[in-house]
Amino acid sequence: MLPAVDDGSKSLEMSLNMLRTASEQGITDVVNTVHFQHPKVETEDISYNRILEETKQLQLSIDNESIPIKIHIGAEVFYLPNLVELKENKLTTMGNGKYMLIEFQPHQIPEGSKQELFNLKMAGVTPIIAHPERYKPVQENIDIIHQWLRAGCLIQIDAGSVLGFLGSGAEKSSHEILRGQLCQLMGSDAHDNRKRNFCLSDAIEYSKTIVDESFLDGLIKNGNKVLHGEEIAIEFDEFTHSTHKSIWEKIGSRLGLG
Ligand SMILES: [Fe+2]
Repeated sequence: MLPAVDDGSKSLEMSLNMLRTASEQGITDVVNTVHFQHPKVETEDISYNRILEETKQLQLSIDNESIPIKIHIGAEVFYLPNLVELKENKLTTMGNGKYMLIEFQPHQIPEGSKQELFNLKMAGVTPIIAHPERYKPVQENIDIIHQWLRAGCLIQIDAGSVLGFLGSGAEKSSHEILRGQLCQLMGSDAHDNRKRNFCLSDAIEYSKTIVDESFLDGLIKNGNKVLHGEEIAIEFDEFTHSTHKSIWEKIGSRLGLG
């Protein structure tokens, strides 16, 4: 959302345009999640102080334009095995230090990452996995989602994936996640005022053809819980929803047989 920061909005005008679109969709709060320790921001100053300053400036312009939206500070942390140390940096968490949004590179989920995520959870910060439906390994094996949920992570899919804006693999996988009720959050992941604008209300509307409306109401409420650092219950039924293993295989693996 911040003009000319990271790979998002290019100008103040674009940011204000995007936020008007968001407001028309009933969005009242936006967490700006700047890329953190991602190779694409290697040469940029992504410090808490800079982001705080840029956020204040943008909020002033939003208020001047009478757009009823509040911007919150946050980050999308690129996975490296240093998550537990990172939690001390105020920029990396949301909801009073309770949640951290974490993304992986699209083609590989590193060995040992599950343990690092679990360690972060044990250190009091719940990991939120950003757009897993866009990762090749998840598209090939949805059981990775079950493993994350079992480790206490939350799953956030992108609104654009549901609508098919981010490729057919992400579209198919996001629908599978919704059908299985395997996510707790849906993110706007808005980057500009063109192809990657806010599309949350359309995505929720479309999702009604896939999953119960009460489940989707829960997703929206959970967004608010993240903002306020409230607990989100993880409920999923791995026996009914996984498509890659038969129930007997699962019972076998639960008993440590496979
Ligand atoms: Fe991302």
